[in-house]
Amino acid sequence: MVFSEFEKKVVLITGAAGGIGRALCDKFSEYNAIVYQTDITKINHPNFIQGDISDQEFINYLVNQIIEKESRIDILVNNAGICPRTALLDITYDEWRKVMDVNLTSTFYLSQAVFKIMIKNRSGAIVNLASVAGQVGGITVGAHYSASKAGIECLTKSFAKSGAQYGIRVNAVAPGVIDTAIHKESTPEQIRQYIQSIPLGRMGTPEEVANIILVLASDLASYLTGITIGINGGQRM
Ligand SMILES: NC(=O)c1ccc[n+]([C@@H]2O[C@H](COP(=O)([O-])OP(=O)(O)OC[C@H]3O[C@@H](n4cnc5c(N)ncnc54)[C@H](O)[C@@H]3O)[C@@H](O)[C@H]2O)c1
Repeated sequence: MVFSEFEKKVVLITGAAGGIGRALCDKFSEYNAIVYQTDITKINHPNFIQGDISDQEFINYLVNQIIEKESRIDILVNNAGICPRTALLDITYDEWRKVMDVNLTSTFYLSQAVFKIMIKNRSGAIVNLASVAGQVGGITVGAHYSASKAGIECLTKSFAKSGAQYGIRVNAVAPGVIDTAIHKESTPEQIRQYIQSIPLGRMGTPEEVANIILVLASDLASYLTGITIGINGGQRM
């Protein structure tokens, strides 16, 4: 069976209460992985640990809890994120900091903490959530969001270069417009305009993003590291 390698692998997924996060948890669980889930929003799951991923102390607690029980983390997906649609001139210093903390700093600090464990195990896979907005500069999404996602692509390369010698692969996906709650602030007119810019003529589904993340986390992608795969229906070629 494809992905049978995930059986008993310890997987950590952030942003697990959201659209792409839920799809990821369901798919890894389907292949019998041991899935640890975290989010600031509470959900009911035996391996769910609630907390704010932008809080360094919470990250230390999260990783320690998993290591105490499992002694390893094989796969990390840095998926939690926020996307305020504040106009460029209205972005305050505090809002800039918050977006960077939740999207970019958490990805760095959690990856660093998990990296230390993966280095000891001489294996591991990390997948980060970038965005097409981080490649072209968002207009309807905030400049802070776009900058944080561009930062994630570069961070992916730095971790990939450091991890390769230990058998750790680090990659990212850059979704386009995916049908999740992150678009709850978008107007119907904005959604219509998004769809017009997508050759495949529709928004993507969380499952379509999760599928590619599973491939990147698996041995099917054993010769891929440091790349960002666009999942955007042809919106950006
Ligand atoms: N949906 C899209 O169109 C799209 C496009 C490009 C990139 N992405 C990225 O995909 C990832 C998942 O987004 P989604 O579309 O599933 O959105 P979503 O809003 O459904 O899920 C995001 C999750 O992150 C959680 N979260 C937010 N702040 C947090 C914090 N401080 N600590 C812990 N958890 C926190 C939220 O509670 C939510 O459950 C994000 O990083 C997003 O930027 C999404």
